[in-house]
Amino acid sequence: MAKKLFVKTYGCQMNAYDSARMADLMAPQGYTLAAAAEEADMVILNTCHIREKAAEKVYSELGRLRALKRTRRARGGDLVIAVAGCVAQAEGEEVRRRAPWVDLVVGPQAFHRLPELVAGAASGGASAIATDFPGAAKFDHLPAEATGRGPSAFLTVQEGCDKFCTFCVVPYTRGAEYSRPVAEVTTEAARLLAGGSREITLLGQNVNAYHGSGPAGRPWGLARLIRGLADLEGLTRLRYTTSHPLDMDAELIAAHAEVPALAPYLHLPVQSGSDAVLAAMGRKHRAGDYLRLVERLRAARPDLALSGDFIVGFPGESDADFAATLALVREVGYASAYSFKYSARPGTPAAELPGQLPEALKAARLAELQSLLEAQQLAFNRACEGRRLEVLLERPGRQPGQLVGRSPYMQAVHLQAPPELTGQVVNVTIERGLANSLAARLTEEPDELGADAA
Ligand code: 5AD
Ligand code: SF4
Repeated sequence: MAKKLFVKTYGCQMNAYDSARMADLMAPQGYTLAAAAEEADMVILNTCHIREKAAEKVYSELGRLRALKRTRRARGGDLVIAVAGCVAQAEGEEVRRRAPWVDLVVGPQAFHRLPELVAGAASGGASAIATDFPGAAKFDHLPAEATGRGPSAFLTVQEGCDKFCTFCVVPYTRGAEYSRPVAEVTTEAARLLAGGSREITLLGQNVNAYHGSGPAGRPWGLARLIRGLADLEGLTRLRYTTSHPLDMDAELIAAHAEVPALAPYLHLPVQSGSDAVLAAMGRKHRAGDYLRLVERLRAARPDLALSGDFIVGFPGESDADFAATLALVREVGYASAYSFKYSARPGTPAAELPGQLPEALKAARLAELQSLLEAQQLAFNRACEGRRLEVLLERPGRQPGQLVGRSPYMQAVHLQAPPELTGQVVNVTIERGLANSLAARLTEEPDELGADAA
């Protein structure tokens, strides 16, 4: 019987990938995707636990779903509610206690069991919790993609983290580092390209720690994987995210110079510019190490656009520590960046540190950092005015006749273009650099880089 599934995704790109895989898993059970919970027979909230705000959003959404489920039941129907992702993993029992109307709770390493758990829920059992880290990799149990992923697709190649930064829940919610074998990744990439994708973003919580087993069982690093995938038929662009500075090896830096398909954009979080804070965060690198790394990357690929993550208000962060973060940002010059107030996460070492800072101070520091980062982003976008760039057109824009895509530097670009160009790489001239995007027009002339024109 045809049924409808609505998946709501919170958090990182890894969750976006997992949501798509959950839809693939449910397709053979007769589920097609719905656009909203109101139209669905089953709702999955694929949740994020990284900061308190992210986790709390889930409970308010669950409140809304409870009302929906009640209405359905009053009319003789039902709504299956599943909580997946990192909140499920970190506080499965808590979810069941605070929201007993949830039918199942499934962690990021156990979601291949969804069909079986849904069948159990339908038979009226108590809510099920699956948050084990099973010995067998879940990837072995996932079906091939059921639908095309669009022009730009995510592909998880690595999961989990062994770095244990003192602020971070990821090692607890996603578990130990695991790299998928090269052959498995290559097969999935080829399928994505056959399904019409042109750009693939390799995902991992610590993607440049990738060490999947290659032919003859020898481990391949990320650089080698990138070189292998770059030759695949139909591939225009490769990206990878998120990287840790410690795992940025010489081979990967060289790949930025030598692999034309590798986009000139890198998300390389540093978190803080203060050595004292970096040490307390357990980052195992100093601000100077990061700056030298950036220099080497820019020597390899002079036009590399850098992005990063920052946490302000880490326990014990002084005015001087914060000033060091601002100084690092000024020195690097980011094309874009994400910044957050420190959020104490239960069970992480930093939550127990003395010197937890007041909310108002964190908010003031965040505002100051964000205004600097926004100014850098605007300057980067304005510097693109007049340039010819290649844009992969991904989807319709908000205005009639408009398409939206991404530049090599990851900027959103909007332009007037016929809808049949969706999924194509086109040459454009940038007309205006705005705060969060570029306005462009189609150009006939070949691209100035000429690397990978469609
Ligand atoms: N508080 C605030 N920000 C955090 N991040 C991770 N953990 C926390 C926390 N406890 C940020 C980091 C990371 C990004 C994904 O989220 O900057 O790189
Ligand atoms: Fe959020 Fe981290 Fe889980 Fe991604 S891995 S969903 S960022 S907690």
